[in-house]
Amino acid sequence: MRTAKSSTIRILATLVLGLATGIALAQDAPKGDAERAKSKNSMCIGCHGIPGYRTAFPKVYHVPKIGGQSPGYIMKALEEYKAGERSHPSMLAVARSLSAQDMADLAAYYGGAAQ
Ligand code: HEC
Repeated sequence: MRTAKSSTIRILATLVLGLATGIALAQDAPKGDAERAKSKNSMCIGCHGIPGYRTAFPKVYHVPKIGGQSPGYIMKALEEYKAGERSHPSMLAVARSLSAQDMADLAAYYGGAAQ
């Protein structure tokens, strides 16, 4: 009886702790880390790393330069692509694959003076 009770308390404590951590994570907007983005930007370089790059397929379009934009702007743009508020097939696919943390890191990287 005693052990059953204490294990129930332990399970409850774990749940409460998990919930608190979840809330803390949800409230804290992820902090961007430009260093971390260096392992994530390989898929952006193909399009955004080439000055004046224009794709040829499915139609010719200009790829905007993102280096030096403000981190807030980049973050917002990525969120909008992901949410479908901005529509562009390539960026929609890219943004969908990114977590909020990835976006913050990439925004810090491209928006940072180091770039
Ligand atoms: C297949 C090519 C391609 C890839 C890969 C790609 N982008 Fe883009 N990106 C584009 C194009 C084209 C646009 C302009 C779309 C539009 O007109 O809305 C764009 C727009 C953007 C914008 C908005 C710029 C502005 O001035 O409003 C941001 C920010 C951005 N991309 C970030 C990224 C990041 C970060 C990655 C990598 C995770 C990435 N992109 C990968 C082609 C690409």
